Amino acid sequence: MKLGVVGGSGLYEMEGLEVGKLERVSTPYGPPSADYRVGRYQDVEVVFLPRHGVPHSIPPHRVNYRANIFGFRELGVTQILSISATGAVNPDLKPGALVLLDQIVDLTSGRETTFFDGPRIHHVDFTVPYCSEMQDIIEMAGKETGVPLQRGGTYVCTNGPRLETAAEIRLYSGFGADVVGMTGMPEAVLARELEICFGALSVVTNMAAGLTVGRLTTREVVGSMRDAHKKLSVLLTGSFRSLCLRPRSCDCGSALRDSSL
Ligand code: HPA
Repeated sequence: MKLGVVGGSGLYEMEGLEVGKLERVSTPYGPPSADYRVGRYQDVEVVFLPRHGVPHSIPPHRVNYRANIFGFRELGVTQILSISATGAVNPDLKPGALVLLDQIVDLTSGRETTFFDGPRIHHVDFTVPYCSEMQDIIEMAGKETGVPLQRGGTYVCTNGPRLETAAEIRLYSGFGADVVGMTGMPEAVLARELEICFGALSVVTNMAAGLTVGRLTTREVVGSMRDAHKKLSVLLTGSFRSLCLRPRSCDCGSALRDSSL
């Protein structure tokens, strides 16, 4: 299965990954965030996309999520792994922790959230928003490479670009949220609508608002992301082959079945 990775800029500089060519893709939804970077890791091909553009210039609420996901499909990608920075809502998580997400709460607004705007209508099942087969493989790679990660976590997606208030974080904690970020939706549901498997790994870059003294700064977020880069590379490269070579027996590939009137 062909793998796509969407993440922050810099990720395609992972050790062991040779970036071959850049692919510009045009879509009916406008341009994706950047050219896709088609890379080779050992004997498998991986396609990267920096979500915020190159240089980092597209804020979370302006990312063209439809174009990004559609573009992956145009390149033949059948599974996407999304990497994102998050704040810890669960106080047991600390900066540097990696969380393999299994649930999401969508609090975004004003984003294009579907490929089915009519006349074709689909209501895709989203009970389990992430592909559990991808999660199994990444969890296993964590064990094999000795990179600690938490399997399972609920992500609250805010609209941004502002950070949250302390009261909002208390509310999300009441929902059972583990982490908060701004980019997880609608990426996940758009992949489901195109029957692409979707997995998400979140990097905790800071304690969320009110769980720390003082202001949250982007320097802290960027610094933690940089610190996590090495173990993230080890984990990802440890997962790539198994992800690409896996037989697909999940339900993601038939997400549209029984979803229209
Ligand atoms: N809140 C929202 N998004 C984020 C955060 C946060 O604390 N950290 C990194 N992305």
